[in-house]
Amino acid sequence: MNKLDILLGLQWGDEGKGKVVDALTPDYDIVCRFQGGPNAGHTIEFEGKKFVLHNIPSGVLTPGCVNLIGNGVIIDPHILKGEIEGLREAGFDLRQTLMIANRAHLILPTHRALDAANEKTLGKMKVGTTLKGIGPTYTDKTARKGLRVGDIQMDDFREKYDHLKQAHLQQIAALGFEMQGFLLDGLDFDAYEKLWFEGIEYLKQYQFVDGEYFINMALDDGKKVLAEGAQGSMLDVDFGSYPFVTSSNVIAAGVCSGLGIAPSRVGKVYGIFKAYCTRVGTGPFPTELFDATGEKLRQNGHEFGATTGRPRRCGWLDLPALKYAVMLSGVTDLMMMKSDVMDDFETVKVATAYRYNGQETKHLPFAACTETMEPIYTEIAGWQQKIDGKIPQRLEYYIKFIENYVGVPIKFVSYGPDRTQNVWR
Ligand code: GDP
Ligand code: IMO
Ligand code: MG
Repeated sequence: MNKLDILLGLQWGDEGKGKVVDALTPDYDIVCRFQGGPNAGHTIEFEGKKFVLHNIPSGVLTPGCVNLIGNGVIIDPHILKGEIEGLREAGFDLRQTLMIANRAHLILPTHRALDAANEKTLGKMKVGTTLKGIGPTYTDKTARKGLRVGDIQMDDFREKYDHLKQAHLQQIAALGFEMQGFLLDGLDFDAYEKLWFEGIEYLKQYQFVDGEYFINMALDDGKKVLAEGAQGSMLDVDFGSYPFVTSSNVIAAGVCSGLGIAPSRVGKVYGIFKAYCTRVGTGPFPTELFDATGEKLRQNGHEFGATTGRPRRCGWLDLPALKYAVMLSGVTDLMMMKSDVMDDFETVKVATAYRYNGQETKHLPFAACTETMEPIYTEIAGWQQKIDGKIPQRLEYYIKFIENYVGVPIKFVSYGPDRTQNVWR
């Protein structure tokens, strides 16, 4: 029986999932997204070209690969249309290779506006969301009010849409806002709504499928399938630094509900992490650096968001957090990204424990908070050498240090944004 492999981000997102999925795709027949939505920004680079994908799985740039947007994903039709059109202009026609699950939920224009209204209401306590409507859409899903892709083909779609929109407008008014452009990134609501419906019409030329049957039958037929995570474990709605998290289960468990496959059908779980840490948005980040070293990581690593352009917060590698993420998803193979970013550092540090409430601990506390968690570091000599196809000896030491701590082998080391800049160990 063929099994489905999974690739997950183990930190706060932006670990380089797009690059790795693209690099692994030649070994797979199907790539699927199982959660998240256009809050994701997955970058792929090759032959001097750069693509950033938000809703579409990162297998689309490999000819012949079929890509499924699974039921656990939420879709903004306007954003998805823009993505598909951008790829078409670059020479990639997805009409035969992109499938969309009927059960995936739709992000309405008013979901986006509600996201912005919620954030404004929170003031200093805001999550720093991507303002793509993620929280409100998943809220409606669990509240059993959402609209799904399959609804597009039903006669009462417009009626259902208007009903939900009215409910949202009431919520927005109750928060003290009027429906104005500032809630939609400066876009006029009526104009945006028109674009949204154009997106809906546009999507009708793509194949809507019952994703759960599609994937299980593909596995039965011996097809190789890879599930591509979005965000990272520390943003998981259950296990991340709540409430500064996204609104879906981004860990391996999310794959089963987000695609409709059984745990017994899961094969390898690839977990990817950067050789250091980054985070966008607010929330705890114990190893964050506010000094010149943090700035150097940001500049060397071009740490600016692929979706929002925001500068990413940067800091040292956090091993207790990494080990926690490995535990939550049963990671079988680790992949370390962006090792090149620190290749001129004299020394690097890694957190191996925290001091919390006067005690040393390797566990992430329930009330994780930057102010009360002081990282305890081990300092390691930098490798001070370009990687270029071969792992320098001192980088090998850094890798072994991480492997010993976490207990899972690092099989893959990435040393540049291009799809070819990798070493398999
Ligand atoms: P994702 O959301 O996990 O797919 O990651 P993003 O695309 O948001 O951010 C990762 C960024 O790092 C992108 O700009 C990639 O092109 C880049 N990148 C990926 N791997 C490497 C690497 O090994 N070295 C360097 N320097 N950049 C990398
Ligand atoms: P990829 O897939 C990094 C963060 C936001 C915010 C929190 C909630 O590219 O790794 P949301 O819009 O989801 O309600 O925002 O989660 N966030 C991400 N950070 N990478 C991402 O995706 C993210 N998706 C959401 O910055 O802190
Ligand atoms: Mg990203």
